Amino acid sequence: PRVALVFGGRSEEHAISCATAASVLRAIDRDRYDVLPVGITREGRWVLAEDDPAALEIREGRLPAVVDTGRAVVVPLGGKDRVLRVVEPDGSTTALGEVDVVFPLLHGPYGEDGTIQGLLEMADIRYVGCGVLASAVMMDKHVMKVLFASAGLPVGPFTVITDLDWRRDRAACLDAANALRLPVFVKPARAGSSVGVVKVDHPDELEAAVDKARQHDPKVVVEQEIVGREVECGVLQGRGTDRPRISEPGEVTVVGGHEFYDFEAKYLDEGNVRITAPAQVSQAVRSRMREIATTAFEVAGCEGLARVDCFVTQDDEVIINEINTMPGFTPFSMYPLVWAASGMTYPELVDELVQLGLE
Ligand code: DAL
Ligand code: MG
Repeated sequence: PRVALVFGGRSEEHAISCATAASVLRAIDRDRYDVLPVGITREGRWVLAEDDPAALEIREGRLPAVVDTGRAVVVPLGGKDRVLRVVEPDGSTTALGEVDVVFPLLHGPYGEDGTIQGLLEMADIRYVGCGVLASAVMMDKHVMKVLFASAGLPVGPFTVITDLDWRRDRAACLDAANALRLPVFVKPARAGSSVGVVKVDHPDELEAAVDKARQHDPKVVVEQEIVGREVECGVLQGRGTDRPRISEPGEVTVVGGHEFYDFEAKYLDEGNVRITAPAQVSQAVRSRMREIATTAFEVAGCEGLARVDCFVTQDDEVIINEINTMPGFTPFSMYPLVWAASGMTYPELVDELVQLGLE
């Protein structure tokens, strides 16, 4: 089958998506799949990219980006024609042939949020991962929490500040945030990889933190800090299977130098973060995590894959923080590591995901 790997994109997680693509390009079985690397530049231009994993890796603190090759990729809409085309710089057009499945290796808005999923639905092209609704809901940390709470899942205390709230009555927004116990995390509602996230220890710092988050998204979520361990699970599901498969849990420990698991700690400062998979948790916590991950995945109708992020408190209470519908697959990412701890190698995982998309 022919697989289009789509990566990069307009979100602030562009570089992480490139790093994910580098790993997938290396691991995917070339005897089995014909791979088409499609990059989306930071500006949103779709281009036929070089099949060159080395250029897409995060190395020595350098963040990769999709290079505009000038070879524009066009997705046909409104028919049963799944043939992608390339418009060359001289204006001539080449058909790339039929694409059997698209693997949207995109994180954040314009990729993990239902937008590309909608485009592919319109084009009648199969793709890996969650559909439009689940992607959109799980991209928004506010809507996601409302949905989780409605399903009876344990969610931490939070407040939301919409653009309208902030412009109408800033003081009331700050009061609502201050009503939570500090420290709090101020986050853009729709972003990932901790982009724009500020930990606030003092009421005086709140306003600046909201302004900073608003540079990334006009909607902001303020979450009360949950003191505990960060434990995450991977989920995999095919359309034919009745229950999603849940991986062993993995734990993130920020060893030093960073106040929390921020962007730098995640991708630029590997040495300061430790991932332990399987996490050393009690049987009760392990089964509670599995239960929570299953419900969270099913409540929005997720498909294919997701990573469920939880906190485990000192009393072994499990609280769900969020779901990521296209988790990072870089070599330092939790998602492939929890599957490795569950007996599935990285190439097997990639193969499984592509097969789920083809189902
Ligand atoms: N948003 C990043 C890529 C993750 O969840 O892994
Ligand atoms: Mg996240």
